[in-house]
Amino acid sequence: MSSDRVIEILRKAYSDEIETVMNYQTNAIVLDGVRAEEIKESLQTDIQEELGHAEQIGQRLKQLGARPPGSEEFVARQETLQPPEDSTDVLAVIRGVLDAERDAIETYRELIEAAEEANDPVTEDLAVTLLADEEAHRTEFEGFEKEYSDG
Ligand SMILES: [Fe+2]
Ligand SMILES: [Fe+2]
Repeated sequence: MSSDRVIEILRKAYSDEIETVMNYQTNAIVLDGVRAEEIKESLQTDIQEELGHAEQIGQRLKQLGARPPGSEEFVARQETLQPPEDSTDVLAVIRGVLDAERDAIETYRELIEAAEEANDPVTEDLAVTLLADEEAHRTEFEGFEKEYSDG
């Protein structure tokens, strides 16, 4: 059965995914320069995936008798993912993305534990899938961080 803790984490995760979509979209638009092209393309792909995550989380909340939050409940958290003053500062965006992905990884690990405790294997299974996606995103941007730090 579902627990309050599971629902609380799902609702937080939903907000985080939506904030991620907003900041990836903004940075994909704001960044300038030849060096930014690869990052912008990658962000565009990830936007679709993060939006898909939000949708799956929202549907799961509904199945548990809860609902995803609307904008009035929204609390912004992604300080390091704000568009950089210098629109060619690709590395700043890469590091912001890494913060967001690591944060998501932590959230889904917490969700796996909470779902297991609540004996909710469906939510646990969803959390494992989302965790795998976020680990793939992290790995990709760790690669970018190496590449762009040397550049
Ligand atoms: Fe995500
Ligand atoms: Fe991600």
